Amino acid sequence: MRILGIETSCDETSASVLEGSGDDVAMRSLIILSQDVHRIFGGVVPEIASRAHLTAIVPVVDRALADANIMRGELDAVAVTNAPGLVGALLVGVSYAKALAFALGVPVIGVHHMEGHLFATSLEARDAVPPFTALLVSGGHTLLLDVEAWGRYRMLGRTRDDAAGEAFDKVAKLLGLPYPGGPHIEHLAAEHEAGRFRFARPMLRRDQSPEDDDYYDVSFSGLKTAVLQAVKSADVDAERGHIARAFQDSLIDTLVAKTARAVEQFGRRRVVLGGGVAGNATLVERMRERMRELFGPDGVAVFAPGRRLATDNAAMIARAALFHLERGEASDLALNAFAAQPLPGLLSA
Ligand code: KG4
Ligand code: ZN
Repeated sequence: MRILGIETSCDETSASVLEGSGDDVAMRSLIILSQDVHRIFGGVVPEIASRAHLTAIVPVVDRALADANIMRGELDAVAVTNAPGLVGALLVGVSYAKALAFALGVPVIGVHHMEGHLFATSLEARDAVPPFTALLVSGGHTLLLDVEAWGRYRMLGRTRDDAAGEAFDKVAKLLGLPYPGGPHIEHLAAEHEAGRFRFARPMLRRDQSPEDDDYYDVSFSGLKTAVLQAVKSADVDAERGHIARAFQDSLIDTLVAKTARAVEQFGRRRVVLGGGVAGNATLVERMRERMRELFGPDGVAVFAPGRRLATDNAAMIARAALFHLERGEASDLALNAFAAQPLPGLLSA
């Protein structure tokens, strides 16, 4: 099976060709064109994003096909992110994918962006397959899931307010760092010692139990306010790195602790990370350390995507689509784009 994936939900225009079946899938090509224009505005401007996708989509797809050494006519299906995301941006990919699939006479498959992130790591690590505990941390979402099998997901926790990546971006702005802020904060934090500032670990108390609805949920808006207070009372130019370190420590500790709770409750032996924030090496390192402390050296394996597959990319979309296609779940030409949509495959409890 040869499948073309397309991703245009936010500010990356991406296309990728995959070949394979089951969990034996090879990435033949991956093109990711990041829209740098948004840096000037300190965040993604939806109208500009759609227009940039429109300019880029044809050459990006052509390049992905050329890199894979594949002709359009050799494709068996076309996959595209159709939710969630910026509707105008999603529509560029969805319209293009439907037109191409129609012209080729092959199925089109709409993919939920977060289900794509769930599959991303498996493209690099063959063992990053279910069952596992998943932590998806991106600019728009923070989800903790128990993944029993592909297509069978238990939603354990989510953010009550800001997503993890959003918290990185907002704190970066408070500290006068460029957008997107995650990599800048990670870099600064690595160069500074902990201890000069300390922020509370949000929604993390010893007396919580699995029946509590905040046992797995996270919340980062209070942490952001704490950073704001620190910024107001300190000399930011002198303390920027220490504040970045304290913020990142608090956010990472919270994510690691909540993930460990899920591993414990469901007895999984693998943790799979996904989303842009999973590109944060400190998060991955601390996750590994904690799992080793709790479950021993061979107890729980932690898998994280490399940077290209952590951030938005079309390979993960094609990979999730392959799974659905093999189950006979293709979309049709009525496929539409949606700003929000529940993750497919959710089990009720
Ligand atoms: O998954 P993604 O590419 O796009 C969304 O689906 O939202 O995630 C983008 C987010 C941004 O908020 C960015 O600041 C964050 O991922 N990010 C990072 C790092 N690299 C990207 N956050 C922390 N540390 C990083 N190294
Ligand atoms: Zn994403």
